[in-house]
Amino acid sequence: MKRLRLGLLGCGVVGGGVVEGIHRNADHIAAQTGVEVCITRIAVRDLSRPRTPHVRREWLTDDWRQVCEAPDVDVVVEVMGGLHPALEATRLALVRGKHVVTANKQLMALHGEHLLALAADSGREILYEASVLGGIPAIHNIRTYFRATRVQHLRGILNGTCNYILTRMEEGLEFDEALRQAQAEGYAEADPTLDIDGWDALYKIQILAALAFHERMDVTAIAREGIRSVSGQMVREARARGQRVRLVAEAERTPSGRVTARVGPQWLDPADPLYNVNGVQNALCVSGDLAGSILLAGPGAGRFPTASAVMEDIVKLAGQVRDVRRMDLPLSVSAG
Ligand SMILES: NC(=O)c1ccc[n+]([C@@H]2O[C@H](COP(=O)([O-])OP(=O)(O)OC[C@H]3O[C@@H](n4cnc5c(N)ncnc54)[C@H](OP(=O)(O)O)[C@@H]3O)[C@@H](O)[C@H]2O)c1
Repeated sequence: MKRLRLGLLGCGVVGGGVVEGIHRNADHIAAQTGVEVCITRIAVRDLSRPRTPHVRREWLTDDWRQVCEAPDVDVVVEVMGGLHPALEATRLALVRGKHVVTANKQLMALHGEHLLALAADSGREILYEASVLGGIPAIHNIRTYFRATRVQHLRGILNGTCNYILTRMEEGLEFDEALRQAQAEGYAEADPTLDIDGWDALYKIQILAALAFHERMDVTAIAREGIRSVSGQMVREARARGQRVRLVAEAERTPSGRVTARVGPQWLDPADPLYNVNGVQNALCVSGDLAGSILLAGPGAGRFPTASAVMEDIVKLAGQVRDVRRMDLPLSVSAG
């Protein structure tokens, strides 16, 4: 059986989930793809930190370059987050002939065009399903399904942290209290700026719009408002009218052919398809000229939902290994 060898950059919430997910489901993947997926290396920042039980000590290094350059790595899985050194690591991995799977929306929104071009030049792939909407297969669907229908409009609740905060505010909490609750529950970072000021949703709608409209917007062209200005009173008054306040990201192709996008709080009526998306759930409504409106909803973040999206990308690469083998072409991965 052919092997696809993974080198992880990061073993935190998502990376740890990938280790566990591979441990649990490698046999399931092998049964479907004919390829054995295995981990050979993992880069972390702090070697002394306890890891999930299935991490082997010999896999670990605190030097990400070692993983990107290792001859026994076919796919680099970037799950460390942030822009640096994630950008340098991703570039190095592609230049060294590795495929890349990343969960990093900031990286793909700000440098996706360059990285996709570099991947194409290197004859490799960079896949990023987990960067948008965690466990919901939004990228897969937009890429593979909407080819007869022209997508006209994307509209979604793309940030679970803001949705959790706004949902808690409906129960009577003020913004600061709801944010503290979100941090205590592990739904918000110690520095919540990227989430509550709308950056996270902006990066995600930019990535989705590029796929849906085949046109990449500069992030500075996307209007952005977060939820800091939403008070408890506003939320409660909305509830009294039967409405809900939610942070909504949307993008559309206007009749003149321009692609526009924006992120900001919206007051939703009960008939709105996003009305019942509560707590950390996410949803994306894709509207097309023939298909009408289709709602994709589910867990937008979290260890295993996000790890599952990373693993689906890995399975796509495993499928290529099998197909390449069938066509009797030279393999880009090792023979086991
Ligand atoms: N958490 C989610 O639910 C979720 C959902 C969707 C997408 N994502 C995306 O997934 C990515 C990872 O998120 P996460 O929540 O898993 O983050 P995390 O828990 O903070 O884990 C980050 C990991 O990267 C390692 N790391 C950081 N800088 C490093 C460096 N310079 N060299 C080597 N290793 C380094 C850390 O090492 P140590 O463990 O030693 O500190 C840690 O293992 C981010 O891009 C995030 O936006 C996360």
